[in-house]
Amino acid sequence: MFSQLQRNIKRMNQHAFDLLQQKNEEALLGGGQDRIDKQHKKGKLTARERIELLLDEGSFEEIGKFVTHRSTQFGLENYKPLGDGVVTGYGTINGRLVFVFSQDFTVMGGSLSETYAEKICKVMDLAMETGAPVIGLNDSGGARIQEGVVSLAGYADIFYRNTIASGVIPQISAIMGPCAGGAVYSPAITDFTLMVEGTSYMFVTGPNVVKTVTHEEVSSEELGGANTHATKSGVTHFACANEIECLENIKQMLSYMPQNCEEDPIRIESSQGTEEAIKALNSIVPDNPNQPYDIKEVIELVVDKESFLEVHKDYAENIVVGFARIDGRSVGIVANQPAVMAGVLDIDASKKGARFVRFCDSFNIPLLVFEDVPGFLPGTDQEWNGIITNGAKLLFAFCEATVPRITVITRKAYGGAYDVMNSKHIGADINYAWPSAEIAVMGPKGAAEIIFRKEIAESENPEAKLNEKVDEYTQKFANPYLAAARGFVDEVIIPENTRSKLAKAFSMLENKAKVLPKKKHGNIPL
Ligand code: HXC
Repeated sequence: MFSQLQRNIKRMNQHAFDLLQQKNEEALLGGGQDRIDKQHKKGKLTARERIELLLDEGSFEEIGKFVTHRSTQFGLENYKPLGDGVVTGYGTINGRLVFVFSQDFTVMGGSLSETYAEKICKVMDLAMETGAPVIGLNDSGGARIQEGVVSLAGYADIFYRNTIASGVIPQISAIMGPCAGGAVYSPAITDFTLMVEGTSYMFVTGPNVVKTVTHEEVSSEELGGANTHATKSGVTHFACANEIECLENIKQMLSYMPQNCEEDPIRIESSQGTEEAIKALNSIVPDNPNQPYDIKEVIELVVDKESFLEVHKDYAENIVVGFARIDGRSVGIVANQPAVMAGVLDIDASKKGARFVRFCDSFNIPLLVFEDVPGFLPGTDQEWNGIITNGAKLLFAFCEATVPRITVITRKAYGGAYDVMNSKHIGADINYAWPSAEIAVMGPKGAAEIIFRKEIAESENPEAKLNEKVDEYTQKFANPYLAAARGFVDEVIIPENTRSKLAKAFSMLENKAKVLPKKKHGNIPL
């Protein structure tokens, strides 16, 4: 009798286990094998495959695997795929906790329903409560059309959380398929967006609507593909050759960041370049001040070997931003690029630099600035599109930053751009200049033409006079020593010593504590 009861219980248990097993298998299939095959044929991975590649092996714990939608419209009452089109949960990347949601295009095109949004909000709330980054892998046809306003409400719930989490935990968005309509605003609020070339696109309205409204004929790729957003709009920070590269970039980026705004980035073992490579810094800046050189070469030689990860590489190339390490410590680099438009600051460069500075300051990542800037870009295009307001973004971002801040002036530091590029006056902690630095209101020729205009015009040989005055100005002002005499530059250093100087200075600044006056928030000129 007793053993019969035991057998019945065992059978019941077996049935319960089988049911669980069956449901687990069903959930893993998302929208079914046919749609998974279709996804693969398009050169895309599935939502679950992406998570597998992103997280440490075996670390993923899923939340809400059996969630189903509540819709009863348009036949949806008879189609309730488990998980409802988004895979959510947590795991680790290099041993550090992260939360993730991965949109499953095989389930109704990854479209967002009420319950789908609830799943995303749940992991976002957990991420905030535990202080860990959130990564969103986007591949979706947007609002689930059958759910109407309920879906729109779900989006708004996510946007709200993105905004409240901004500056508290790092948020990263990868776009690995469609991302259209209002759905684009979640990635736009997050800290970094990555897109995959050829298979992803982002736009507020697609090519058909564009054609109806503006009569423009444009393909999805041209309108909102990875390259468009990496080069023209700057909406994406990375255009990745494939999904694997995209996921690898996310992992690398996270390695420079702390888990949340209360923590510091982790320090790792450092490796510097060879003596020879470091000495090469001495000959990078050309004698002729009008000759370009590549600031990325300087960066690579100064920072820990192979530690530089450039962000926003193809957008506003006249400024370079990215993460690196000095002596194992994370730093955020902002550098004028003399090889592109002479490194001038324009609207796009100012916006790019400002957003990066804000990110680093939010997450306790020290800032390192390399400066070689001839000024702000003149012209009606720039003025009419608001170089004043946009340039002020970069200025404001530096002024407000309380993280350790160091500047190295490699060559030109002219005019307002001198002030803006992390000058001593706006809060930089240590300012170095190379002997090639020229710190002045403007370049020698422009300056001589203005202040000696009369003398030059009245001279018998105006050209010779101009040259003479340019030389005089160059000797007096186009050097780092006037600024050093005032203490605006702390030290003039030989380029090959830059790395060791920076390592010591960042170490000295490690416990820097600067607090801004109490306020609700500043009003950055948006
Ligand atoms: C419900 C959707 C859907 C959606 C796609 N599907 N989008 N179901 N709501 N928004 C379903 C399709 O019916 C199809 O189901 C499956 O997903 C795959 O879609 P296909 O069209 O076969 O795929 P593909 O050819 O690759 O085209 C993908 C697509 C297209 C470009 C995304 O599906 C599309 O244009 N969808 C509509 C996009 C859209 O207008 N969304 C609303 C945007 S407005 P079956 O069963 O056939 O596999 C918006 C507002 C957000 O999002 C507001 C926030 C503030």
